[in-house]
Amino acid sequence: MPEFHESVLAEAVAKALVPAIAATPEAVLVDATCGAGGHTAALLARCSPAKVVLLDRDPAALEFARTRLEGAECALHFVHARFSSLAAVLDELGIESVAALIADIGVSSHQFDAGERGFSFRADAPLDMRMDPTRGRSAGELLAEIDEAGLAELLRRYGEEPEARRIAKAVIVARPRTTGALAQVVEEAMSARARRQLGRRIHPATRTFQALRIAVNEELEELDALLEAGPERLAVGGRMGVISFHSLEDRRIKRRFAALSRVAELPHGLPLTADQLPKAPFQLAAELPRRGVVADAAERDRNPRSRSARLRVLERRS
Ligand SMILES: C[S@@+](CC[C@H](N)C(=O)[O-])C[C@H]1O[C@@H](n2cnc3c(N)ncnc32)[C@H](O)[C@@H]1O
Repeated sequence: MPEFHESVLAEAVAKALVPAIAATPEAVLVDATCGAGGHTAALLARCSPAKVVLLDRDPAALEFARTRLEGAECALHFVHARFSSLAAVLDELGIESVAALIADIGVSSHQFDAGERGFSFRADAPLDMRMDPTRGRSAGELLAEIDEAGLAELLRRYGEEPEARRIAKAVIVARPRTTGALAQVVEEAMSARARRQLGRRIHPATRTFQALRIAVNEELEELDALLEAGPERLAVGGRMGVISFHSLEDRRIKRRFAALSRVAELPHGLPLTADQLPKAPFQLAAELPRRGVVADAAERDRNPRSRSARLRVLERRS
């Protein structure tokens, strides 16, 4: 099989989700970010859901995963959709609740490595960056329309770029149309001090590329929508695992899972014993560290993408 994408934290995902699938008759598994189908493959090797629904906004990923998962013993539904439309996709398939949901958000290696998709400054190509190349506005189109203040704000918000204003100014003057040209403009605009702080291993344009990609694909809005819809569709005992790759995402996941696991405030002074306290309908997976699961040293060495990955798991208990 050609290299498409190596799954991250596949063992941890399987360990966390298999019991929920195995305990549910006619279990439905949702893989909200099918990619190369790696997480689904890892789960199907260990348990037997009745149905798997695989979503991806990238048709190339679905095509690859369809071939990889051929011969699976359960029903597989491949759906070209954003995961923000999860509820509509499940309604369409007549599925009310699911035993497990996995979302491994972000870009796949395939998207990143295919130079012509315009995600990376490693190859010079038109600035595209759309995970779904069939619709939406490319990074080049965004840069052609945005003004300096808007770009500076975008770089600060999605790239946490301290030199956002300098970079925005230079980019708006140059209006680069390719990944190589953008990387060069950013590198030249950045102060020597900021470049030194990044060190030799991080390219000066890394945060700018991240910010544009997040904006083009509306990644944070997508994540918020998934964090709304996903827990609602979990069966009792069902689990939802989300893997994120940077703090902007992880913060949102942590807060949403914590909010769902908290009991509603009780009227002040109500005399209740610990047993009488109402239980929250959700809880964090009890066996996992509260800060989530990260890759061990062996995985980090084998797969550098795993270095920034963090898995958090939520369970529905009532
Ligand atoms: C990191 S890869 C997933 C890899 C997969 N878990 C595996 O093990 O092979 C992320 C995938 O999610 C898809 N994706 C990202 N955001 C999405 C969204 N909002 N809706 C649907 N798919 C999305 C990307 O197109 C990409 O194929």
